[in-house]
Amino acid sequence: MAAWYRLADTLFSRMDAEAAHGWAIRALKTGLVPEDRRPDARSLGITVWGRRLPNPIGLAAGFDKNAEVADAMLRQGFGLVEIGSVTPRPQEGNPRPRLFRLSEDRGVINRMGFPGHGLEAARARLAARPRRGFVGVNIGANKDSTDRAADYVTGCVALAPYADYLVCNVSSPNTPGLRNLQGRTELAGLLKRVQDAIAAKPVPLVVKIAPDATDDDLDDIVFVCRDLRLDGLIVGNTTLSRPATLTSDRRGETGGLSGMPLMTLSTEVLRKTARRTEGQFPLIGCGGVASGADAYAKIRAGATLVQLYSAMVYEGPPLIRRIKTELAALLARDGFNSVADAVGADLRP
Ligand SMILES: Cc1cc2nc3c(=O)[nH]c(=O)nc-3n(C[C@H](O)[C@H](O)[C@H](O)COP(=O)(O)O)c2cc1C
Repeated sequence: MAAWYRLADTLFSRMDAEAAHGWAIRALKTGLVPEDRRPDARSLGITVWGRRLPNPIGLAAGFDKNAEVADAMLRQGFGLVEIGSVTPRPQEGNPRPRLFRLSEDRGVINRMGFPGHGLEAARARLAARPRRGFVGVNIGANKDSTDRAADYVTGCVALAPYADYLVCNVSSPNTPGLRNLQGRTELAGLLKRVQDAIAAKPVPLVVKIAPDATDDDLDDIVFVCRDLRLDGLIVGNTTLSRPATLTSDRRGETGGLSGMPLMTLSTEVLRKTARRTEGQFPLIGCGGVASGADAYAKIRAGATLVQLYSAMVYEGPPLIRRIKTELAALLARDGFNSVADAVGADLRP
């Protein structure tokens, strides 16, 4: 761990988790956090949706909900950054505390409930930034919305001009009923409305699903996505399940679990998804990534891109360089010249 981050970590780990996150955002905005502009290994470069990315390691949604630090996080060495979830109207989210570290398990439980500044604030910030790097925009629905599908249409239409890809997040466990939008009919209706609404200026459109999806759920989700010729799937969000191996006192908190205890489950669901999509569109593997080996496992299970959030809570930005170095070494060890060559390696007969 870098010396500067050891100091920051000492301070952050004593604070309430959400307060620490607030300070991290402030520090990133003021440029106090050392950047990492060293070039990436050539083998890490990857082409997706016609764009060339320096590496496949992305920042997952939820860290930069309000589009305040996308460029700062790209300068930390991420190959892509996803902002959001953005809801049409600003909202408070659930009462605090609502974010908990499970340090012994290297996990996190959150029940944030989409707190955020809303669409207009996100739009203003995205419009003001240079169109550099690869930035995805993740859209959610307001808690009190009477037509949730309409919220996704509103969000996607408003932010498509500033997005390198759009995400319909229908898998947050902290907005009651939201996950029902993953059902076959609901999902097809929602995605069709969004596709039609952005047809004039198409942007790659992906759906983010829950790692709690059953095999039947996956059949439905993948059928809809293939049928509508969607551009990708993110597998996935936080889980409502609680592995028996958890030891932290906080394991009983209500909310979605992320971090290391999610790695096995989310990679298994990714693999099942990849078997169903048969390469029709790229997959983004997310859940529990904390090392190059984890990222490599997601890629071998079918992910073209990988995202993480919770491991950053414990290791901070130096983690990004470590993951990239380890991943490049693993690719070389196994004789892969590029990430693309390794995508889905475990699925091949
Ligand atoms: C505090 C917190 C807030 C999150 N907020 C969002 C969100 O707004 N939208 C979303 O799609 N995912 C959100 N997520 C889920 C992450 O993007 C990611 O899917 C999940 O945490 C699994 O990855 P990880 O184990 O690397 O953290 C959030 C996760 C955490 C820990």
